[in-house]
Amino acid sequence: MADIESLLKEKRVFKPSPEFRKQANWNKKDVREFRKSGEKPERFWAKMAKENLDWFTPWKKALEWKAPNAKWFAGGKLNVSYNCVDRHANSWRKNKAAIIWEGEPGDTRVITYGELHREVQQFSNVLKSLGVKKGDRVALYMPMVPELAIAMLACTRIGAPHSIVFGGFSAESLRDRINDAGAKVVVTADGGYRRGEPFALKPMVDEACEATPTIQAIVTVKRTGEPTAMKDGRDVWWHDAMATASAKCPPAKLDAEHPLFILYTSGTTGKPKGILHTTGGYLTHVTTTAKAIFDLKDEDVYWCTADIGWITGHSYVVYGILANGATTVMYEGTPTHPGPDRFWDIIERWGVTIFYTAPTAIRTFIRLGDEHPKGHDLSSLRLLGSVGEPINPEAWIWYNKVIGNRKCPIVDTWWQTETGGIMITPLPGAVDTKPGSATLTFPGVHAAILDEDGNEVKPPDGGLLAITKPWPGMLRGIWGDKKRFKETYWSKWKGTYFPGDGAHRDKDGYFWIMGRIDDVMNISGHRIGTMEVESALVSHDDVAEAAVVGRPDEITGTAIVAFVTPRGGINADEAMKKTLLGHVTKEIGAIAKPKEIRFTDALPKTRSGKIMRRLLRDIAEGKESVGDTTTLEDYSVVAKLRADDD
Ligand code: WT7
Repeated sequence: MADIESLLKEKRVFKPSPEFRKQANWNKKDVREFRKSGEKPERFWAKMAKENLDWFTPWKKALEWKAPNAKWFAGGKLNVSYNCVDRHANSWRKNKAAIIWEGEPGDTRVITYGELHREVQQFSNVLKSLGVKKGDRVALYMPMVPELAIAMLACTRIGAPHSIVFGGFSAESLRDRINDAGAKVVVTADGGYRRGEPFALKPMVDEACEATPTIQAIVTVKRTGEPTAMKDGRDVWWHDAMATASAKCPPAKLDAEHPLFILYTSGTTGKPKGILHTTGGYLTHVTTTAKAIFDLKDEDVYWCTADIGWITGHSYVVYGILANGATTVMYEGTPTHPGPDRFWDIIERWGVTIFYTAPTAIRTFIRLGDEHPKGHDLSSLRLLGSVGEPINPEAWIWYNKVIGNRKCPIVDTWWQTETGGIMITPLPGAVDTKPGSATLTFPGVHAAILDEDGNEVKPPDGGLLAITKPWPGMLRGIWGDKKRFKETYWSKWKGTYFPGDGAHRDKDGYFWIMGRIDDVMNISGHRIGTMEVESALVSHDDVAEAAVVGRPDEITGTAIVAFVTPRGGINADEAMKKTLLGHVTKEIGAIAKPKEIRFTDALPKTRSGKIMRRLLRDIAEGKESVGDTTTLEDYSVVAKLRADDD
């Protein structure tokens, strides 16, 4: 509530400049008209699907909606790789840069639409030669190299849904995701570069594939050249397979509801959810939003810093951007290598015009000092974006001033893995912005603030964010788990989607997102379930019990704090902490590593045995004064007393 109050005091309003307004893809009048047609979402989105995509066969009905199941453009046939590549390669854009890639060591590669066309078709044929057929799943576990985008597009070309696993996840996480999706092939690399050092990926795949019955082949891109073991009959090098692959592979004509990809995201249980997206609605959503929100023009050099392993990278590094025939920048490594100005250096050298990043990165740059961006010519920039977590007004203002030189509109875009594309956002030529607010719904998207019973909450009170009408990029399910799909997203209110965020609206109807209200943490804009980290901790032999909570962090938004009760006879010392951090890294990945581990003799629980997370959160935030010698044992007494109060 304190957050809401402080944000409510935020009164600054930024209007789009007349220069920006004049040239914007969507002006005020367009937006007014689209909002009107978007009252009936299927009317607006059908217009967009026709205008922005090429279809082999038109659909019969724009929307069939029987909550929670939606079909968008069913009967319509299209191909994602055709829309992202062929139609540009067959136009004047043939020799235009589709992908500008920069490796961390400084090596670069520029791939034109014509070249991309060739390589996507070749890799489609490689997949086919490995036995991949329409409907088969392909796992991609890769660094940020162009081959990742090529592999994605090749999958879409033949109708094989991909499941991308972020390269920071462990072998165990990869194995679980491969098995859940039943993937037939994995595409990986020997490794990649981070912080100036090569890291290995293929050995993790080997480890994962010791227990993946469905995997028949592994394709490996040579990136680092480090010694890499290859298994005869199962493993092939990307370059060997490509050398003999034909560059002709016609795009499959796929139904709009054909599965496009699965992407795993954390939920409130220990098991990640395989979010399923399909072809026509998703592509309509990401293509339309990219064009309108990023104001994409043919002259633009667009850079989204997200890793393709997350939904932001799927939708706004690859699909939404290439479908518009734009140039997308892909950077392999860390923002601060070899120096704290790497991002600004990239912007200056490539003449980036649109820059989309996360608040956590912005806060890091603020701390690193203004001299780094100020040491570069950033005048090519004309639009800035933010995504992944609420942006604090101070960071917004800094972004506007220091990076945008006060002339770039900022689009603070709210959405999720499940929504597929952006849902709440400014339109840069038409909507006034307020620092810290994602502003208004995109035309054709309908949101409200509701209470638990589904009653609309009046401004300025806080409540639960709800999406009240279907939208084309919406998830079509959780892979293999219909029940969880219904329970997680569609059981709070009838026919209305529950995203899991708290929010409120101001008197102008602007949305202010307050963050997750479930047991999911948002660490640097990435979702990690508390249960997932807890399961990882208790899977260690020396741990009796563990509870994990998030606490506010200046840079990462939220930091993970773990309360751990060791088994009897185990020394709760620094060495044990190190062991546990290593264990979590092995079970999930480094992104899930707690920032702090606090040993306890017991966890505070209610009489029914539920861990009192709120109390732990208070302790982690230092709201309850915890003296050095105080153990949680004492708090379990407090907890018991509190439970008795209830
Ligand atoms: C959660 C979704 C798709 C974006 C990358 C993260 C939070 C996302 C914003 C924003 C406030 C935001 C929400 C959401 N979030 N964007 N602009 N303002 N919060 O995707 O991992 O699926 O996480 O990120 O809490 O539910 P994700």
